[in-house]
Amino acid sequence: MNSAVHFLLLMLPLISAQVTQWGPCPTPRVQPNFNLERYLGKWYEIEKIPTYFARGKCIEANYSLRKDGTIKVVNSQIFRNKFRSTEGTAVIRNKMEPAKLGISFSYFTPYSPYWIVSTDYTSVAIVYSCTDILHLFNYQYVWILGRSRTLPVVTVNYAKMLLQKEGINIYKLNATDQSCKT
Ligand SMILES: *[C@@H]1O[C@H](CO)[C@@H](O)[C@H](O)[C@H]1NC(C)=O
Ligand SMILES: *[C@@H]1O[C@H](CO)[C@@H](O)[C@H](O)[C@H]1NC(C)=O
Repeated sequence: MNSAVHFLLLMLPLISAQVTQWGPCPTPRVQPNFNLERYLGKWYEIEKIPTYFARGKCIEANYSLRKDGTIKVVNSQIFRNKFRSTEGTAVIRNKMEPAKLGISFSYFTPYSPYWIVSTDYTSVAIVYSCTDILHLFNYQYVWILGRSRTLPVVTVNYAKMLLQKEGINIYKLNATDQSCKT
């Protein structure tokens, strides 16, 4: 068997949660004139394509600038009744394309794409990540984030419409449980 195909068959079960598609990554347009300063602060996860690394509830992220210019990312969630948080780093890789960030949660993993497709900075943000494997297939994550724990249905539907317009598959998007004490 062709070794790339073999590799692919081994990988598929691991990545079954996210959307997997044949071929290279789609390239949606991203937020024009992205302003990082305005994006910083706290965002709540409203909907996402399920991931193996964030399966809990009350999922939120806080973005702040470090002195060295990198972005500190603190993700937190409640998983099996325990509060858990992890710290990662995001960077703008190319100043010409500031809405295309890279994000990593360990020194040992490469930066994954973290593209801000659209945001108004004050209520909603749409984040997209796609990685392709040998241009053979790709796996995609999508997050709809809010400045509050819940967003009006019209806002969420508008975000989904925008994603579809950019050719992004939204059928696996799932609402995050944000029934939390604070
Ligand atoms: C976000 O993180 C920054 C830097 O660590 C901190 O100063 C700020 O209080 C945090 N904001 C929230 C809402 O937790
Ligand atoms: C969708 O989210 C709910 C919580 O809001 C969760 O119970 C369910 O397992 C999720 N579905 C998938 C396919 O991850």
